Amino acid sequence: MKEVRILDKDFELFIDADTIQESIKRIAVDINNDLEGKDPIFIAILNGSFMFAGDLMKHVTVPSEITFVRIASYKGMKSSENIMEVMGLKEDIKDRTVVILEDIVDTGHTIERLLSQFETHSPKEIKVATLLFKPKALVKDVKPDYVALSIPNDFIVGYGLDYDGYGRNLQDIYKIKE
Ligand code: IMP
Ligand code: MG
Repeated sequence: MKEVRILDKDFELFIDADTIQESIKRIAVDINNDLEGKDPIFIAILNGSFMFAGDLMKHVTVPSEITFVRIASYKGMKSSENIMEVMGLKEDIKDRTVVILEDIVDTGHTIERLLSQFETHSPKEIKVATLLFKPKALVKDVKPDYVALSIPNDFIVGYGLDYDGYGRNLQDIYKIKE
């Protein structure tokens, strides 16, 4: 079993690159079917979603725009409820179909804050596409529209996700070794 050490923690291979790519292709098909003719604007949430956004968009065939915003980042291994403002949205999303691209929906706090912030710009509709979803960790009343992979409550790194800033570059996803 492939293992990596990041800072002070050991991680083991959990989801390999091929499986990640296949699940991304699957949701791209759903997105292409659902959003045909809707002129969507994808908004990728940095830093975590950079790899997901890049790979997903290669399979999106509907005419669309993509842009990138940033929010306060995740510190260490606990999800924080104290999330900062969305930074960097230059595009006018009024009356647009918006698709938020997230790396992971864990407790749902982040996506709930993002949805309420984007709602203030009066888009036509907002969809959420996430690479990973931890259904058992969800405490908020939000449900992502497109989920590439549902996973248990383990802490994971790789493919955009970090442990204290490290590990985002890994092409596979690793989970923490207990
Ligand atoms: P939520 O607000 O609890 O849904 O958490 C969302 C954010 O927490 C994500 O955008 C990630 O940055 C971070 N996060 C949640 N779970 C993990 C994990 O297992 N590994 C790395 N980051 C995570
Ligand atoms: Mg994130």
